Amino acid sequence: MDRFLIKGGTPLHGEVTISGAKNAVLPLMAATLLTEEPCVIRRVPNLSDVRFMGQILFSLGATVKFEGDTLRIQARKIKGVGDYELIRKMRGSICILGPLLGRMGRAMVSMPGGCVIGARPIDLHLKGLKALGAKVKIENGYVDATARRLKGAELFLGGRSGPTVLGTANVMMAAVLADGVTIIESAACEPEVIDLGNFLNAMGAKVVGAGSPTITITGVKCLHGAEHEVIPDRIEAATFAVAAAATGGEVTLRGARPDHLHAVLDKLREAGVKVERSGQDLKISRHGRLHPVDITTLPYSGFPTDVQAQMMVLMTLTPGISIITERIFESRFMHVSELARLGADIAIEGPSAIVKGGKMLSGAPVMASDLRASAALVIAGLTARGTTEVSRVYHIDRGYEQIDGKLRKLGARIERLEAE
Ligand code: EPU
Repeated sequence: MDRFLIKGGTPLHGEVTISGAKNAVLPLMAATLLTEEPCVIRRVPNLSDVRFMGQILFSLGATVKFEGDTLRIQARKIKGVGDYELIRKMRGSICILGPLLGRMGRAMVSMPGGCVIGARPIDLHLKGLKALGAKVKIENGYVDATARRLKGAELFLGGRSGPTVLGTANVMMAAVLADGVTIIESAACEPEVIDLGNFLNAMGAKVVGAGSPTITITGVKCLHGAEHEVIPDRIEAATFAVAAAATGGEVTLRGARPDHLHAVLDKLREAGVKVERSGQDLKISRHGRLHPVDITTLPYSGFPTDVQAQMMVLMTLTPGISIITERIFESRFMHVSELARLGADIAIEGPSAIVKGGKMLSGAPVMASDLRASAALVIAGLTARGTTEVSRVYHIDRGYEQIDGKLRKLGARIERLEAE
């Protein structure tokens, strides 16, 4: 397993181009299952999760070709039953359920388990599909959904922690080929849902309201092939913004879509970070002292849970007390004990982390536990005195395209030690 060796203390300077969004491209790839015709997706990030989704689509019978950052998929003839072991390995693959059911009338995929950030149930996905008339069984580790013909319905997708992003995507993708009109209430409003709506419409679907809590989908008989460019990754952009601020540097984020980053930029400004917008680019710099901020993660357009760990690192460097409350996933604080190895003073009280900041971190060996926690550890290593070794970086390779290369271009002293 690869590791990162990071020598801290160098402020980041320069420009970084933001890649296509992992959490947008996975549902887009799933959506290509809805048509026999070829689809082309551009600005596809080269990530292990994306390659893995490619393997899943291939195992279902699709042809999948990566050409640089362009992805060509054609699902001319596919089967509705997925490979158990393959699908089980990546939670995001649950979003093939809706399109398979919509096109094939049958979808059998492995039931995703929980993961280190929480239990991650799929009850809302299933509730939505059942509302469209699917019969759903959970047997031998599989979700087995069948429907002769899905029928449009009015349904409510809000759960205990608010709306569900991939649940909304699944129901949208099932509903585009259903008979009649589907109205999803309490739909997720994330930009990734809008991106999916745009792609589905380019394929001939009739989706209105994606990005708002009410999405209306009028079913059509069939969809055709389409071309689409993935939106920039707002979480990657936020991660580089926090890294620039934490190291006291100055970084321009090229093609960052600032309109997707309001909550993060607002908190950075409140913390004393300078944020300058120029079109689709953002310049992030920090020269003076940081101020403590309180953060609560919320569904979009609130502060994203996927940036909580990174922001916690910034707060460990900030004199004073900051309270960070996680409202989306119940156990997304795995990074706290690793940050403690670097000298951070963080106490967990229920869903909140109380960060007593202001001390310089000092390098140590730490272990990545999930994607965003790993990004936080890398940022911590960049600011720490001495050397930090981050192991299990396969977590970070799932969702950050060449993070070590991009950081090196910004002046970071980060080296990848490849597994023997
Ligand atoms: N939930 C339910 N029932 C469901 C589905 C979700 O109770 O049927 C709960 C979850 O347990 C959680 C909340 O609803 O408490 C929100 O979960 P959501 O379904 O929105 O998460 P997701 O769609 O599975 C996506 C991203 C995550 C990101 C979340 C929240 C992808 C592939 N994953 O997951 O990304 O944290 O939305 O924004 O799009 C990451 O990139 O590191 C990552 C974990």
